Amino acid sequence: MPAVFAILVPENNDLYRILYFVHLLTAFAAFGPLFLYPRLQRAGETAAVARLHMRLVFPALVLMWVAGMGMAGVGEISLAGTPFVTATIVLWLIALVASWFLIRPALTEPDEGARSKMAMGVGITHLVLVAALYLMIFKPGGYEFTT
Ligand code: HEM
Repeated sequence: MPAVFAILVPENNDLYRILYFVHLLTAFAAFGPLFLYPRLQRAGETAAVARLHMRLVFPALVLMWVAGMGMAGVGEISLAGTPFVTATIVLWLIALVASWFLIRPALTEPDEGARSKMAMGVGITHLVLVAALYLMIFKPGGYEFTT
């Protein structure tokens, strides 16, 4: 079978890998569009940004957590005993709060106050992205497993 069809090879298709795929896909969807928000808002595209946020970005953020928790479950990784996972869950919560309480209310109100709230929300989310990526990839402190 040509290598491009690697996804069809049974050993590549286990639950962990599928969750991994979903985790990364949703991370792109949850963080990527935020880079465009301020520009879209300035261009008067408030309805489009609001739709994007509520239909794609916010659900992707939630699904990313579901897939991450699934990976931890399947991989028998201890949530409380593995520092990089515990810390990322806290960071994810911060991103969720910023997304709901800072970005979402600012989406439909294009005044100055809303704009600075949005900028703060986007800034916080980007810091979370950098810190979470570092933790997820370098895994400081290593793993603790449940079994
Ligand atoms: C907040 C933003 C997040 C980003 C940007 C992110 C990104 C990533 C990336 C790039 C990997 C691949 C690392 C690797 O294979 O070496 C990964 C793996 C993983 N993520 Fe996340 N993640 C995030 C949040 C979460 C959350 C909230 C959880 C909840 C439990 C989670 C659980 C996991 C687990 C268990 C792995 C597998 C670790 C391993 O390689 O063994 N992630 N994540």
